[in-house]
Amino acid sequence: MKNNVLVIGGAGYIGSHVVLALLKSGYGVTVFDNFSTGRRENLFPEAGLMEGDIRRYGDLTAAMKGGFHALVHLAAFKAVGESMLDPGKYAENNISGTVNILNAAVASGVHNVVFSSSAAVYGEPHYLPVDEDHPVNPENFYGFTKLEIERLLFWYDKLKGLRYAALRYFNASGYDPEGRIKGLEQNPQNLLPIIMEAAAGIREKLMIFGNDYATEDGTGVRDYIHVSDLADAHVRALAHIAAKDESLLLNLGSETGTSVLVMLETARRITGRPIPAEFTARRAGDPAKLVGTSARAEKVLGWKARHSGVESLVATTWRMYERLGRSD
Ligand code: UD1
Repeated sequence: MKNNVLVIGGAGYIGSHVVLALLKSGYGVTVFDNFSTGRRENLFPEAGLMEGDIRRYGDLTAAMKGGFHALVHLAAFKAVGESMLDPGKYAENNISGTVNILNAAVASGVHNVVFSSSAAVYGEPHYLPVDEDHPVNPENFYGFTKLEIERLLFWYDKLKGLRYAALRYFNASGYDPEGRIKGLEQNPQNLLPIIMEAAAGIREKLMIFGNDYATEDGTGVRDYIHVSDLADAHVRALAHIAAKDESLLLNLGSETGTSVLVMLETARRITGRPIPAEFTARRAGDPAKLVGTSARAEKVLGWKARHSGVESLVATTWRMYERLGRSD
C-alpha cells in the first residue's frame, strides 16, 4: 500500500514513461487506461492493469479498491485544435473525469495526486522565461481544462487534505533513450513527430507555421523537454508531497528555446534524410516564443533536465520512427 501507485493514463505517451520511472524507483504500479489513445505495447509485465474510463466513477472506485498510496493523473485529451472545435468532449473527459478521480480518491483514502498540467495555462507570455507566478490566461480550451483541474486540486487540498503536485510541462518530446517504450504515439500533432513522419516518408512534408516572427530565424521558439526528464520529475514530486505533506505547483521545462528551423536542421543531420519543408501562414494562437524557467523544480525537487538537448530529443524520437519508413 505505502508503495503502490495508480497511474491513470499509464499506457499513453507520457504515462508509459512515468510508469517506467516509477518501476525503476521501486514503486508498485497499476496502470488505469481506456486505451483511447494509450497503447497496449506500452504496458510492462511488472505493472498491473485496470481497464476503465475516468468518465465512469465506478471504474475508478473499483480500481482504487486495491489501496494506493498515490495516483498520477495523465488521462486528459491534449489536442489543442480539437479542443477548440469540440469543447464538450474536453470538458467531459478532462474536467468531469477529474472530478470523478478526485472524488474516488477521497472515498478510497488516496491522499497524493501528481497531475500532468501544461504551460498552456499561461497563454501568451508577458515576460520570458515564464515562471510559476506568471499570470494564467489560457488561450485555448485545452489549456482552460488544465487550469480548471489545477483549481479543483487546490480546493480538494484545502477541503479534503489531498496533497498534489501540478506539473506544468512545456513541450514534451523524445522517447526513452534506452528504447524500452514500444508504442508510438497515435495521431501526433506536435512539431517533432511531424518532422519525423516527413523524414520516414509517411508524410509529404513539414509545413512551417510562419517565418516572420520576431525570433532569430523568424520561426516559432519553444522549450522542448524530454519525456524521460518529465517522468523523473513525477517520481520526485510524488516523494516530495507525500513526505512533506505539502502541495506543489511547478514548471517543467528545459529553459532552452529551440526554433522550428533549428529542430528541422538537427533532424536532417541526425536522420540523414532531406525532410521536405515549406513555409506557410502563422497558426492562430501561436506565440512567437515560449520558454519557461524551472528554477523552482530545481530548488524544491533537485530536478534538472538531463536528456533535453535538441540532439537527444531528435535521436530518441527517430529511433521510433525510423522503422516505420522501412516497413512501408
Ligand atoms: C501546444 C500547447 C502545449 C500542449 C501542446 C500539446 C499552447 C501554448 N501550447 O504546444 O501546452 O502541450 O500543444 O499538443 O497551447 N509547428 C510548425 N509546423 C507544424 C507543427 C508545429 O511549424 O506542423 C510549430 C508551431 O508553430 C510552434 C512549434 O512548431 O512554433 C511547436 O508546435 P507544437 O508542437 O504544436 O506545440 P505548441 O503549439 O507549442
